[in-house]
Amino acid sequence: MVTRIQVDGDRPYEVLVGRDLAGQLPSLIEGASRAAVLFAAPLREQAARVAEAAGVPTVLIEVPDAERGKTVEVAATCWDELGSNNFTRTDVVVGVGGGAVTDLAGFVAAGWLRGVRWVPCSTSLLGMVDAAVGGKTGVNIAAGKNLVGAFHPPAGVLCDLDSLRTLPADDLTAGLAEVVKCGFIADPHILDLIESDPAAAADPGGPVLRELVERAIRVKAEVVSVDLKESGLREILNYGHTLGHAIEKRERYTWKHGHAVSVGLIFAAALSALSGRLDAPAAARHRAVLEALGLPTSYAPEAWPELLSAMRVDKKARAATLRFVVLDGLAKPGILAGPDESLLEQAYAEVAR
Ligand code: GLY
Repeated sequence: MVTRIQVDGDRPYEVLVGRDLAGQLPSLIEGASRAAVLFAAPLREQAARVAEAAGVPTVLIEVPDAERGKTVEVAATCWDELGSNNFTRTDVVVGVGGGAVTDLAGFVAAGWLRGVRWVPCSTSLLGMVDAAVGGKTGVNIAAGKNLVGAFHPPAGVLCDLDSLRTLPADDLTAGLAEVVKCGFIADPHILDLIESDPAAAADPGGPVLRELVERAIRVKAEVVSVDLKESGLREILNYGHTLGHAIEKRERYTWKHGHAVSVGLIFAAALSALSGRLDAPAAARHRAVLEALGLPTSYAPEAWPELLSAMRVDKKARAATLRFVVLDGLAKPGILAGPDESLLEQAYAEVAR
């Protein structure tokens, strides 16, 4: 069974969720005369299966794994490959891998001939529920992560749940932090599902994780359908991310994104409660759900000054005061702009305890 989730906008597309999905690729790339399949070494076999199923001649392009592949230099070698294989406007780029490989593939597609079609075949939970949906593509540079990129929606997205069976358990759990975020900002049934059976939520072969993936993708699809370029509603997807990004930076990106977001969610919930916008039980529910999944909910007390200045630098770059996504209730996200430093410090005490 394949679930199809529609993403609207100027260029609507579908996110397909199911098992053994490679055979669906031809329907997403109709009219293409060839495809470049980008992959990192651990997913060579999966990439070969996708290439075989594409129904058109393919060029397999191996890129460095994870963030090491998300560079301008790697993108340039991919463009050279497309050039030497005479890729035209009707050809497509396919990315097989986690968020890093699909972000790179999308960026390569966005740049080639000023934009060709692309399809992310997402193999990680984080990739499925976040990176592959919404058209954000890009690479990292020395000055920071994701500073160079383009909004370039894909032609379609494949989320093959079978790939989650071989995903390290730690990566699966980390990906669930983004699912929990979707539960709090838009779909509380996600929280009910996790609370009633946290082990089933993390079982890659079971129906509960499938439902969670589909629900989280629906949340993201609805948001990016109305706000592709983050000029409004899309900001709610950053719930828990302002502190999360600061932690990732302090940890020099050795922490998993989902772990940093998990701590960030506790902070955002505390901020929501302390500013009188969220009731205490709803704030406490954040810790309960995240801990039930084995996700981290605390961070070094002494790190606060460094985290605060990292958050300020982040915001300075956007020429804005500090802004946080908070909750006015379950599924009621809002914005807290320019809070007092003392309020922020009090909220951090919930994390540092
Ligand atoms: N990861 C947040 C967004 O796609 O906007």
